[in-house]
Amino acid sequence: MNIKLIRTNFALPGRVIYLDVVDDVEALITDLSEADLVPCWAEIWPSARTLARYIWSNLFLQGQSVLELGSGLGLPGVVCGVRGAHVTFSDYNEEAVKLSLHNAGLNDVCAQGFIGDWRTFGLQERFDIILGSDIFYDPQLNPYLMRICRNNLLPGGQLLLSHQRRQHTYAFVECLQVTLGLTETRIDSIEKDEESVFGHFAVSMHHLQPRIS
Ligand SMILES: C[S@@+](CC[C@H](N)C(=O)[O-])C[C@H]1O[C@@H](n2cnc3c(N)ncnc32)[C@H](O)[C@@H]1O
Repeated sequence: MNIKLIRTNFALPGRVIYLDVVDDVEALITDLSEADLVPCWAEIWPSARTLARYIWSNLFLQGQSVLELGSGLGLPGVVCGVRGAHVTFSDYNEEAVKLSLHNAGLNDVCAQGFIGDWRTFGLQERFDIILGSDIFYDPQLNPYLMRICRNNLLPGGQLLLSHQRRQHTYAFVECLQVTLGLTETRIDSIEKDEESVFGHFAVSMHHLQPRIS
């Protein structure tokens, strides 16, 4: 696919992340009635920005393995890579995986890609961290995401999840926490965004880590 990209900057304290984003997302729309064809991978969602900032300010990931689910353009995964992690970007959209890898390269991050649908996810590897921004919008997909977290998270591993404060997602995050025996740090934030009629989006970020006994 020949997609026109434009270069943008995402500013973190003391570091700029370079990202090529899709110039005209609407041009990619073919069928809005079919959820799997909606090009939601082609935007950087407010939840991705919140998660990227949290990772930058709180985590040092040297040598850690990270799987980003539904990576879209890959912002949080790129920040993990800049923080020293070995990152695998995954999405069921091939262009998304390619663009995540491209954006990693723009920031001197070497990464891997995996094209896979959560419903039939065939990745065998386990990771220290699994992360996902704005991937819990369809409750019908949650059982598949639960299975991935069980199958692909290393013992002692952590989850980093963010979303636009969807009530059903809070319940699912609690379910993940209980099932995997993790403890939660939650941060609620506001992302300025001119695309919103309110000028901002409200986001919640959940960091699920092993309980210290
Ligand atoms: C709302 S977008 C979020 C993109 C990115 N994480 C962000 O926050 O900017 C949801 C992402 O999940 C991917 N996705 C949706 N359903 C999927 C599925 N069944 N299997 C794999 N990826 C899926 C989409 O292609 C898209 O990249």
